[in-house]
Amino acid sequence: MQHFLTLLEWPKDELMRLIEEAVFLKREHQTGGNRPVLKGKSLGLIFQKPSLRTRVSFEMGMVHLGGYAFYLSPQEIGLGKRESIADVARVVSGYVDGVMARVFEHEHVEQLAKWSSVPIINGLSDYNHPCQAMADVLTIYEEFGKLAGLKVVYIGDSNNVTRSLLFSAAQFGFHLTIASPEGYEIDAESVKKATAAAGQDIATTTNDAVEAVTDADVVYTDTWTSMGQEEEAEKRRQIFPPFQVNQQLLAKAPSHAIVMHCLPAHRGEEITDEVADGPQSRLFPQAHNRLHAQKAILARLLR
Ligand code: CP
Ligand code: NVA
Repeated sequence: MQHFLTLLEWPKDELMRLIEEAVFLKREHQTGGNRPVLKGKSLGLIFQKPSLRTRVSFEMGMVHLGGYAFYLSPQEIGLGKRESIADVARVVSGYVDGVMARVFEHEHVEQLAKWSSVPIINGLSDYNHPCQAMADVLTIYEEFGKLAGLKVVYIGDSNNVTRSLLFSAAQFGFHLTIASPEGYEIDAESVKKATAAAGQDIATTTNDAVEAVTDADVVYTDTWTSMGQEEEAEKRRQIFPPFQVNQQLLAKAPSHAIVMHCLPAHRGEEITDEVADGPQSRLFPQAHNRLHAQKAILARLLR
């Protein structure tokens, strides 16, 4: 059974084929609609955390491909609380053709995958966010017409989104520089894994945001406080301001650099309105690309 839990589990050429398929499905959707390649197929959406983009893009993605999707709230499932994860997986996979799950601990999607008889798609865990990464790669590819050789610079907290970008760099051949405050750097184990997958050095880490952006093609940021870390929000608000993506920082990057953010944005914290709504921002095309990138994943796994 093939799942979609992290980008490192998929061969590079298959991931690139998914990006090409996403480009195709996007064009097809915008020029008359997609063929119903998932007619009669169903997708269960298990959410342990809130969502706008992930929920709506998966639901609409299934509708566009002729299939059906339904949402299961944290209260309904109580993954590992009301019922064991192994039992949830064995029951639900008898009803549907695929499951997307958004969880706190990455181990929980791994458990689902272990026990499920249908593909499990990771819709965000504390470890990574691979569907976001595929939309990000699609956005960068559309912008520059290539991926290899580009320099993506991530500014801020080293979190699930950062780790997925790191794995994307390894799989798609761009360079990732991660600029974070001391104590909030990416773990060495993830860099090691990504480097091994790439077969070469693809990541640089620094505590200097200004130095990091000087030759950036992409400047990427995310919230300083991820879902589940809310009690640290105040402390992080004291530490992270030098890592705000504002006009002053963006001015240090080349003028062709684009700005990305997985959203939701905490405007005035990790990104200013001026940048988020400015000419270099690709925040909304990036969010919309969730739909197209995920349709490629769905068509590949559920067909
Ligand atoms: N970027 C993203 O995953 O957004 P949601 O949390 O709204 O799904
Ligand atoms: N790092 C953020 C991403 C939200 C899509 C979080 O985990 O909350």
